Amino acid sequence: MAPIDPHSFTDSTHPLASHISLSLFFDFSSSTIHASALFTLPSPHSGPLSLDARGLTVHSVLDPLSSSPLPFSISSPPHPIKGCHLTLTLSHNSSFLVVFTTSPTSSALQWLSPPQTFNKALPFVYTQCHAIHARSVFPCQDTPAARVCYSARLNVPRQLSAVMSARHVDRRDPIAGEGAALACGDGAWCAEGRVVEEFVMEQPIPPYLFAFAVGELGFREVGPRTRVYAEAVPAVLEAAAKEFASAEDMIMQGEALFGPYEWERFDLLVLPPSFPYAGMENPRMTFLTPTVLEGDSSGAQLVAHELAHSWTGNLITNKTNEHFWLNEGFTTYAERRIVEAVQGEDRAALSIGIGWRGLNKEMERFKDNLEFTKLKTNQEGVDPDDVYSKVPYEKGFQFLWRIERQVGRPAFDEFTKKYIATFKFNSIDTETFLEFLKANLPGIEKEIDLTLWTEGTGIPPDAYEPVSSIYTKILSMANEFKLGRMPREDEVADWGGMEWELYLENLPKSIEASQILDLNACYNLSDTKDYEVKVAFLLLAIASECKDHYAEVEKTLKAVGRKKFLVRLYTALVEGTGKEEEKILAKRVFAEARETYHPIAQGVVETILSKNI
Ligand code: BES
Ligand code: ZN
Repeated sequence: MAPIDPHSFTDSTHPLASHISLSLFFDFSSSTIHASALFTLPSPHSGPLSLDARGLTVHSVLDPLSSSPLPFSISSPPHPIKGCHLTLTLSHNSSFLVVFTTSPTSSALQWLSPPQTFNKALPFVYTQCHAIHARSVFPCQDTPAARVCYSARLNVPRQLSAVMSARHVDRRDPIAGEGAALACGDGAWCAEGRVVEEFVMEQPIPPYLFAFAVGELGFREVGPRTRVYAEAVPAVLEAAAKEFASAEDMIMQGEALFGPYEWERFDLLVLPPSFPYAGMENPRMTFLTPTVLEGDSSGAQLVAHELAHSWTGNLITNKTNEHFWLNEGFTTYAERRIVEAVQGEDRAALSIGIGWRGLNKEMERFKDNLEFTKLKTNQEGVDPDDVYSKVPYEKGFQFLWRIERQVGRPAFDEFTKKYIATFKFNSIDTETFLEFLKANLPGIEKEIDLTLWTEGTGIPPDAYEPVSSIYTKILSMANEFKLGRMPREDEVADWGGMEWELYLENLPKSIEASQILDLNACYNLSDTKDYEVKVAFLLLAIASECKDHYAEVEKTLKAVGRKKFLVRLYTALVEGTGKEEEKILAKRVFAEARETYHPIAQGVVETILSKNI
């Protein structure tokens, strides 16, 4: 027994599956999926084989050739982080079939009842598998080291349609034996019967990139390789088509910088507001929060980020979450290069500035847990959702930017292209990256302390705060506010969301409630549709106990389920003021809103509240 990943039961002595064929029957009445998974191994295997599972009821494991049962056992109780260890016993099998049902509380899945959707008529379900939640949808070797191809047949009510992180190949009637005879039980809206949607993913992907969404979906074409999907509401689809019109331009910039786009299509899916992230880079079908359509200024940056993962992340993946910076640091660097090419140097510099301030704040957050200020982290016994932070993004970005400054852009661009071409469709660790770096940029280890950067805590002395006139101006205005100077209208006339976000995040938490009221009287920040700005403002309101804005805090916590906002606002309420009133508010709002959050967000907020109440 030799685990290859602290977050998985996958064993180094067992073969890794090369293909999984999934049949999924969606039962909306019970929020479960009745399913089977047919695994193919590269060669016949005898003896134990370990899989990850969470909350799955495994009915049987069969030899698909003879239909005879194969022995299996499932560990109990589940490990608090990894879930269950499903052990099969094979005897010279090169394939096996697992028949199982998911749990209504599957950590990857959010089941929305019709009233929770935009159209209020039909239900919706979607996945969020990153980092270790694929195992709650189907048993698998749930480590990014185990890349696998898949095909899937989704049996869904006929009024719904499905999208996946895979190529759509067919929408057809169910055939005998595909669950058509199973009672639907979903009420009047499913009287029209069922349909099967078929998909294939022919490129090997880490399990965390497995994804689907099923609902009343519509789409608009926005480019030769891009459609935007969303709930079939014309206004939403129009807004999405407008917001993402520049997708093709970005793909072309990405190709110029990083090499061919290998995934054929770059479609986008706009999710319901409870989606726990701003974006998720599911291959061929990026998932996005709908708040970008309402006035977030960060839409282009977000799409650039998820697109950049098509090279740095989806083509080259971190071997385990301990090397997560390889995914997110590289992607943050690539994102800023795309933003610079499409929107200009000023935008990119502002984004680097916001990132720099964010990185410094994370150092404060982790001051008693310095392990998570490192790039390469030890995650034994650690839930990746609990330590998710800006460090892998921004310290990783700073590291790569440092190398770029050392060798110059042309040499670094050449290095990056070669790195991607060399390791594409592989999962690698920090050591592999460093070896490749030293081999291709000879002498780099004499110029930059690579060990300090990758294994040291804190921010290395040769990290770099960006200089740009707008960034410096905003920081000095924030300093002047501390002395009582309100920003003048002419100074902020051309500010977008990023400028306000940077400004607000640099105001001291110790400002007075009256100053918050004055600022809002001038600029109506509590009402903005840009949630990055709104949340930054509400955090100041909470810190200064400006109770006039607590209704807006509650409204925000009930409107948007993005984990980053929930974590910041709930933490501010229960830790920030140290008073009972805010804690009671947090508890009540969570009790009322809990059901509307994705299970991942529910879990993280529960951890925050249980630590503090
Ligand atoms: N893959 C991440 C989101 C993620 C990371 C989900 C780890 C689960 C575990 C995605 O690419 C991402 O970084 N999203 C950011 C957006 C961004 C512009 C930095 C987000 O959602 O905040
Ligand atoms: Zn990312």
